[in-house]
This record gives sequence, C-alpha cells and structure tokens, in this order.
Amino acid sequence: MKHFGKFTAALLALLLGFSVSSAAVTADGKSGDTLQFGADGKFKIMIFTDAHEDDELAESTRMLMCEALDKYQPDFVVFLGDNTTVSGYDRIVAAVDALTKPTRERGIPFGMVHGNHDSEYGLSRDEICAIWDSFGCMTYDADPALYGCGNCNLPILSSDGAKTAFNLWFIDSGSNNTDPGASGYDYVHPDQIEWYKKTALALKEQNGGEVVPAIDFQHIIIPEVYDELYLEVPFSNEKLTFERADKDYFTVPYLTRLNGYWLEHPCPPDVYDGQLAAWKEIGDVIAEFNGHDHKNTLQVNIDGVDVVNVPTCGEAAYHSDYTRGVGLITLNEKNPRNYKYELIQLYKLALAKDSAIPAACGEERSYYQKIAALDFVPQVFFTVCRFFNGIGAKLSMKLGK
Ligand SMILES: [Fe+2]
Repeated sequence: MKHFGKFTAALLALLLGFSVSSAAVTADGKSGDTLQFGADGKFKIMIFTDAHEDDELAESTRMLMCEALDKYQPDFVVFLGDNTTVSGYDRIVAAVDALTKPTRERGIPFGMVHGNHDSEYGLSRDEICAIWDSFGCMTYDADPALYGCGNCNLPILSSDGAKTAFNLWFIDSGSNNTDPGASGYDYVHPDQIEWYKKTALALKEQNGGEVVPAIDFQHIIIPEVYDELYLEVPFSNEKLTFERADKDYFTVPYLTRLNGYWLEHPCPPDVYDGQLAAWKEIGDVIAEFNGHDHKNTLQVNIDGVDVVNVPTCGEAAYHSDYTRGVGLITLNEKNPRNYKYELIQLYKLALAKDSAIPAACGEERSYYQKIAALDFVPQVFFTVCRFFNGIGAKLSMKLGK
C-alpha cells in the first residue's frame, strides 16, 4: 500500500470523522514530514510496543503514554507492533485512533511496524497500513512488491538541514512462517534484506561514501539472540534443558549477558534469515529494537549490534508490573553511534505525586513504592553488567573479533 501523503491522509481522516495532525510539528518546531535533529543536537524517539489494544483503550495504557510523552517530550514515536488486537474494520480504525491519539494530540510525528498478531483479526497487513496512513503515520510501504507491508526508512536530517545525519529502518518481521512444512514465527525474507542493502548503499553514496548510522525497528527479535544468550547442549532433560528449532539449550541463560530482565524465553523465528549478516556487511545498523516478548528488557550486543527488547506498554497484554513501560532513545548528532537508551517503567511514572496511573490501574501508590524497592538490586546488577559488557565489546572490536 503506497503512502497516501499528508493531504490525502487528512482528507480521508476528515471523511472518517477523525482528527489528525496533518502538519505535525514537534516542540522544536520541526515539520512532521521531515525528521531533523533539534538545535541542541538531540533527537528523542519513544517506543510503545505490544499495546494489544481494542477500540476502548485501557485507561492505564493511555495515562502511561500521556505521562511519558509529557515528561520526556520525544521528537518521534514508534509503535512497535501488536498494536491492535480487535476484529472488524470499524473497530480496528477506532483502536488505531485511540492508540495514536495521545501522540497526535501533542503534534508528535509517529511511525509503526506490524507485529505478528495485528493481521490476525480480519484485515490484511496492507489494509492495516492504510488505516495507520489515514491518521498521518509517517512510515509507509516503500516497495509494495516486498514481502510484508510497511518496510521503509526515514532519514533524520542534521540540525542545520544540510545532510542526512541518521537513519531509521522499519521492517515487517511478519506473522507466522508459512513456508511448506515450516513452523514457528515468520522471518525477514530475502527480498526485504536485498532492499535494505540496496537502500543503505544508496544512502551511503548520497552521503559522500560514508555509511549513515541507523537503528532498525522490527517486532520480532533476531534468532542469533539464542547463540548469544544460551548454552547449546548435546542432550535433553525435562528440568535442565528446553528445545527450540531442533536444538537443545540449557534452560538458564548467561545472566551477565542479559543487561536487563529475562522473564521469558525470547521468541525469534527458527530461520536464520541473514539479516544480522547484512547489517554487519553494510555497517550502518548500531541497534535493533524489538517488542514481541512482553516481559523482557534484554539489551544484548551481538557482533557489534545492540539488540534491545522493549517490554509491553499495554494493560491488555500479558505483562509484568516490574517491566511494563515505554522505551526512550536519545540520539546525539555529534556522536550518532553513541546513543542513549532508557526504559521508562510504568511504576516510575506512577510514583510522581500528580500521576493518574495508580488510580487508572486501581492500585495504591505504596504498591509502586514496593516495586521500586524490589527493582533496585536487579537494576544495579544490570548496570554493572552493562558496564563490563561495554568494555568487553570495545575490546573485541579492537581485537578485530
Ligand atoms: Fe505481543
């Protein structure tokens, strides 16, 4: 489905009776049609994933989004898949309206990728793309011939507008693997990877032969996460191991490599699709952000690429009150490969004096104080691990691993 353009989107939204910020402008006065670093050299991206919402957005999810947007004032928002899980065209339109409203009301431009579940409720991925487009979504289907829908990139201009300083990739990681005889989740298909390589090389050429640093957004994590986190073993045991893609792994991962909460086994595709190899070949992707595994907050560096799992923001989704929240990336124009990532857990926002989150969740403030106290030790552990893993990654790069 091609990008309709802002005018068509606004017209369609008007006909449908919805409001849309057709000329979305950020707090820095940047046009929603062009992403650009602010005068301070920063660009903030907030991630909402796995809302799994229907047409009546849960109040706690709405308040989480509103309070996070108001406190951190991002320049761009990414909805990272499994955004709506409700049946019927009108209800899906209403669900997208409700889910994007806090972002649109604040005039913040936004993009989306599909999750594995979005197209399981009666509409195709193309039809869902068209609905998001009608609300002013900036991501689009760059090549309708590609597998999936919504594969595209959005460049971020330098603060002076003179060049592309950073790039955002949006890849449709599919639903279920429908190859004959196959099972498990879908994978990024060869034509998507070829398109990525071709487009990245064109960007490099436009940039005077230098690759443009980039972040990839896609719903499902890459399969190499298992090689990095788990010990493959040559036996199976009901209590000690588990099986995945015809391999047996020791049940407990390498804890010092997690850099975040591991509350469930990650669920990548079984197929090694070559996406990581393509990133390494081109050298532009510094990090990949995923949803999908609702409770995990893993941050794993695999061959120089940070693979980050953002937990669900949604009340309607299965979740943990320790990890439920939103992601926040801060890019620095002067040092674009050294980005900052923060997980804004719901409980942290709920502890603010004037927060409406406790009431929306039906909890007392003391409930979140208890979570904050219990979350302290793991966070210290993760921070220490991140520090040492960071040193290890730099050493490996210097030694030419
Ligand atoms: Fe999900």
